[in-house]
Parts: sequence; structure tokens; C-alpha cells
Amino acid sequence: MQYREFGRIGWKVSEISFGAWAVGGEWGAVDDDQSIAAMKRALELGVNFFDTADVYGDGRSERLMRRLRKETKTPFHVVTKAGRRLSPHVADGYNRGNLTAFVDRSLQNIGVESLELVQLHCPPTDTYYRPETFAAMDELVKAGKIQHYGVSVERVEEGLKAMELPNVKSIQIIFNMFRQRPAERFLAEAHRRGVATIIRVPLASGMLTGKLTAASKFAPDDHRNFNRHGEAFDVGETFAGVPYDIGLQAVEELKSLVPGGATLAQLALRWILMFDGVSTIIPGGKNPRQIEDNCGASALAALTERQMSSVRAVYDRYIRPAVHQRW
Ligand SMILES: NC(=O)c1ccc[n+]([C@@H]2O[C@H](COP(=O)([O-])OP(=O)(O)OC[C@H]3O[C@@H](n4cnc5c(N)ncnc54)[C@H](OP(=O)(O)O)[C@@H]3O)[C@@H](O)[C@H]2O)c1
Repeated sequence: MQYREFGRIGWKVSEISFGAWAVGGEWGAVDDDQSIAAMKRALELGVNFFDTADVYGDGRSERLMRRLRKETKTPFHVVTKAGRRLSPHVADGYNRGNLTAFVDRSLQNIGVESLELVQLHCPPTDTYYRPETFAAMDELVKAGKIQHYGVSVERVEEGLKAMELPNVKSIQIIFNMFRQRPAERFLAEAHRRGVATIIRVPLASGMLTGKLTAASKFAPDDHRNFNRHGEAFDVGETFAGVPYDIGLQAVEELKSLVPGGATLAQLALRWILMFDGVSTIIPGGKNPRQIEDNCGASALAALTERQMSSVRAVYDRYIRPAVHQRW
């Protein structure tokens, strides 16, 4: 495993880390023992950074972090998120009282006295124009309940706006072979400002592993079933917002670029690692085999100019018209 500097916080984080949404819920059935086995395998392979949220399985994912801490001596960072417990999910809700309550609940779930990093969980765009929200986060830092804060964003422009706020230390964003606009300006700007980036949905919800087909079936409680058209949350979180049939066609072309001995998932992750502004990638994984596959990307050779331009050509041909202008 290779490590990268986590912005101006300065942690040395594994470039392939662990996204803990799927082990919480909304991806079909999960088994806590298998999830813990996946997380332990990640630690063995050098992963030292876990991304969770208070809403993943209504706290189940955060509680797995607590269990993992109890069952291992290996140190690791846990970063969580706050805001999505709001209903309705509106900018007004990102106030001092609510944020404090969310943080208190996460402290309890994770079983620590201070949270290392809390990300506002894709708040409405208006939130970035409300200094009182960020003043409330500053107060939580002062009180010692949290050490740092950042934001998770849907769109590039929200990320660029968030970077202007002096105490926003990290930005989480979707970036993958099917979501390339962050490479135009966002990543370089984050790098220049010393803001850490956490790259989510790197495998386009599993599509960029090459295992999905037109016949693939998803459980009723899997967002790949119930959010395909954005019925429950931003459609960009499901298959990175790429229409399913178009994604499958693009994946067929990408398969020919996979280096010998590697997998498409590893190519997809290595492609992301080609960009300097990337601090860490958080692929979701539910079992040790997936974790091994994903961590293997860190050992892959850098992609050639030719591979990079071939990926770009596939994007331009199939994906760009449907997604480029949207996020
Ligand atoms: N708003 C936000 O802030 C937000 C939103 C989304 C995600 N996130 C974070 O980002 C993380 C990653 O995003 P994601 O989980 O949505 O998408 P992802 O990493 O693109 O896809 C993860 C899914 O792909 C499948 N998979 C993973 N590795 C595989 C492999 N090597 N071979 C075959 N299948 C594999 C697994 O599902 P199956 O085995 O079921 O196919 C896994 O759950 C999340 O866990 C979460 O921490 C944050």
C-alpha cells in the first residue's frame, strides 16, 4: 500500500481506503461478521482510513468502527458525516443545535471522546453561503467534540466554494472513469490549497468492476434498484448517474485496456490515482475478496499516455453527453 498526505491535516493515509456505506445498509443484505472480516483484511493490507456516516444503516456502520477498534490494535482513522438525519433535508437544519446532536450521537456510536473529522453530508447548496453553519462547526472543534471538519459535495462548484472556507480541511467528491470533470479544475485547486480530497463511488457502484450485465438483479433494499432514477437521493450516487445500458457498453470497451494479471476494478482505481490532487479513494467493499482486489490497485504500474487517452475516448463517446454538464 502506498500512502498520501491528507491535505494540511498532514495524516499519511492509505491511497486505497475503505468506504463503509455498503456494510451499513442500502446495498442489499449484509452480515456484520463478514463486514468485520473485510475491514480486518483491509487493515492487514495497509488501509488506515475508513469513511462512514451516521445514516449508514442508521448507525450500524459507525458501530462497526467501534467493534473494529475493540478487536484490533492496529491504528486507523475514522471519518464520519452529519446532516442526512435531517428531514426535510434543508439548509436551515444545518444549525448549531442539530449539528451538536448529530455529533453527540456519532461520538457514542463510534465510541470515542472526539471525532477525527466530520463531513457535512452533501448539504443543500445554500448551506455554503451560511457562515453560521461553519461557525457552529468551529465551536464543535473548540469544544473538543471534533478535531477537523470537511464537506462531502455533489457538484464541482460546491467543492470550489467550500474550499474558500478557511477551516474546511477535506472535500469528498465523486471522481471516476465515468465522472471526469473534477480533473479539469477541482483536483488541482484542492491540491494548491492543501485541502484533502476523499474520492467516493470510484467503481460507479460496482459497474466499473465489469461484473454487471443487463440481467443483473438487485435486492429491493439496494439503491441500485430503488434509486436508479434518483427516487430517494441524488441520482449521481447510483452508477455515478450513468444510464445503466450506456454504462455497460462503455465497460465492454474499457475491458480491453486492463493490463495482464490485473482486474477492471484495479484499472479503475489506478486511473484515479494518476491525479495528484487525490488524497485517498474509498471504494466500498463487503467481503475480504473485494478488499484484496481493490487494494491491489496500489501496486499497479502507472497508466501509460495511451491508456489514459483511451479511457478519455471511451468517456467522450459514451458518458460525457449524459453526465459531464450535470455534476
Ligand atoms: N454522499 C456521500 O457522501 C456518499 C455517497 C456515496 C458513497 N459515499 C462513500 O463512498 C464509498 C464508496 O462509494 P460506493 O460504495 O457508493 O461505490 P463504489 O465504491 O463505486 O462501489 C462499491 C460496491 O461495488 C462492489 N464492489 C466493490 N469492490 C468490488 C470488487 N473488487 N469486485 C466486485 N465488486 C466490487 C460492492 O457491491 P456488491 O458486491 O454488492 O456489488 C461495493 O459495495 C461509500 O462506501 C461511502 O463511504 C459517500
